[in-house]
Amino acid sequence: MSRIVIVGAGTVGTATGKGFVSYGHDVSYVDISASRVQMLRRDGHRACLPPDLNLDGVDLILVSVPTPTNDFGLDFSHLTESTNDIGAALRRCQSNTYPVVVYRSTMLPGSTRSRLVPRLETVSGGRAGVDFGVCYNPEYLREQSAREDFLNPTVVLLGTDLQDRRTQQEMYALYGTFEAEVVLTSWDVAEFQKYIHNLANAAKISFFNEMREAAGQIGFTQTEIDLAFSITVKSAESIWHPTYGTLNLGAYGGACLPKDVSAALTFAKSLGISTPLISAVETVNNRITANQVATLTNGALMPARRIS
Ligand SMILES: NC(=O)c1ccc[n+]([C@@H]2O[C@H](COP(=O)([O-])OP(=O)(O)OC[C@H]3O[C@@H](n4cnc5c(N)ncnc54)[C@H](O)[C@@H]3O)[C@@H](O)[C@H]2O)c1
Repeated sequence: MSRIVIVGAGTVGTATGKGFVSYGHDVSYVDISASRVQMLRRDGHRACLPPDLNLDGVDLILVSVPTPTNDFGLDFSHLTESTNDIGAALRRCQSNTYPVVVYRSTMLPGSTRSRLVPRLETVSGGRAGVDFGVCYNPEYLREQSAREDFLNPTVVLLGTDLQDRRTQQEMYALYGTFEAEVVLTSWDVAEFQKYIHNLANAAKISFFNEMREAAGQIGFTQTEIDLAFSITVKSAESIWHPTYGTLNLGAYGGACLPKDVSAALTFAKSLGISTPLISAVETVNNRITANQVATLTNGALMPARRIS
């Protein structure tokens, strides 16, 4: 059994906390919202505000504070504030343990290495990898089914300092009882992967939304569009083959894809239908093709992508 403190008791924090309780771990919560703390206490959980954070005897501190966007990009203020609180609590800590700070919030590549670890070290007066461990463990749950998704992950990703065996062991032990594959990477790769995960989902949704809009403008009914999409789910290799398009094989080419993308764009334009995503698909592919030609001209070989 691990002693776990969850910092940020929102959707991710409470799904994580309740999930680990069901695996027999000891969980308490810290949140800046007094009403949230009260609510958690009313429901029988241990919870406190950040000034009362006590890390004596704690094995893992799981951070799931918000990372919204602002005019400058990602708003880092909640991560900074919570990291200051954890650093101060680590400095006060009396027990001779090796607590691991596990960031679960979605944050841009390089954040843990260049911002959070230095801040933890400065505020706590200790050193990462010596006095405490640091892990980036992204969460993939969906809001509507947070608890079930947390308990049934398709994969668990642990971003750590690759030299920090103690953190890796602690994290493997934590997730060892889950049935999912556990993958170990650096902090940066784990942060990058979480964005690829979300961008892939966003791009797929936008593609089908653009197609639905265009098909409606052409005159197809929603029933006809649904039927075409449901067949595509079965026919399109990009959907039924998990690694399709993800390997380092360069631009698409061959007899079908370039001509059909081009024909679809001309057709849409002739009808006054806007398809910016498909336009971008062609632009990106032309750029990659040009880069490949330049690479070949310079004497290097580029593998050919299999095309339909
Ligand atoms: N909601 C999702 O479906 C989901 C899924 C995967 C990842 N994420 C990511 O997880 C992170 C948390 O998301 P969420 O949806 O759980 O957010 P949320 O808004 O539901 O909860 C965040 C909680 O953190 C608290 N908080 C803010 N600053 C704090 C601080 N300094 N110290 C302690 N508590 C603090 C807030 O009061 C709130 O209770 C975000 O980075 C988000 O992108 C969210």
